[in-house]
Amino acid sequence: MKITRTVSVEVWRQTDAEAHGRFVTYDVQGVSPETTVLELLDLLNEQLPDGDSPVTFDDGCREGSCGKCGVTVDGVPHGPEYNRASCQQHVRAFRDGDRVRLEPLRASAFPVLSDLTVDKKKALRTVVKASRGPAGLKALTNAGCISCGACVAACPNGSAQLFVGSLLTELPPLMKDDDERRDRTAQVIETADETFGPCSTYGDCTEVCPAGLPLENLSAVAREHLRNQRQTK
Ligand code: SF4
Ligand code: FES
Repeated sequence: MKITRTVSVEVWRQTDAEAHGRFVTYDVQGVSPETTVLELLDLLNEQLPDGDSPVTFDDGCREGSCGKCGVTVDGVPHGPEYNRASCQQHVRAFRDGDRVRLEPLRASAFPVLSDLTVDKKKALRTVVKASRGPAGLKALTNAGCISCGACVAACPNGSAQLFVGSLLTELPPLMKDDDERRDRTAQVIETADETFGPCSTYGDCTEVCPAGLPLENLSAVAREHLRNQRQTK
């Protein structure tokens, strides 16, 4: 027999991008240790008091591969289980089994659109476009990055260095020659510097990355930067 209980869910409610948000607490019934964060939100929406609008969140594959989901669970982007997307996080791992706080991914580059939904695409795409779009997307795919944005939210500086470093790890072989490599990598680094915060190698990004991308990927940024400087002298 499946054992279920009631969990008190403190969730961020914000009607639109301009509105002030606040936490609202709801009791959600029928939750099991195996319930995932997105399933908990489904249950919450099914049990909302009359008149309350559904809590919005980014839904996708629910298999940890599309990068769409991503909420902050008790202060941790995606949730307390290392290297798992929110759709793969379970109630059994919550710090307090009877209570949880859900809020959007927090980063100045990711404005909240409503409730738990943020616009992370715009900022991440700006960097990918700087790498000549399709090549950048292919580089991210080759690196295993799912563009979830959790590394940015986990970083105390709001840096996207794990995302950028993963892109730059795989971009050079996709460039047609050294000139293109220099131009594109310089554009990527400059755009990332303008869009996100600086990297202080705290390493928090690697704990939340669902793709398990390593800290070594950060070094690709310095490598391409130094290489470009040497070539322009
Ligand atoms: S590097 Fe990891 S955490 Fe950052 S966007 Fe890619 S998959 Fe997400
Ligand atoms: S919904 Fe696709 S990674 Fe979570």
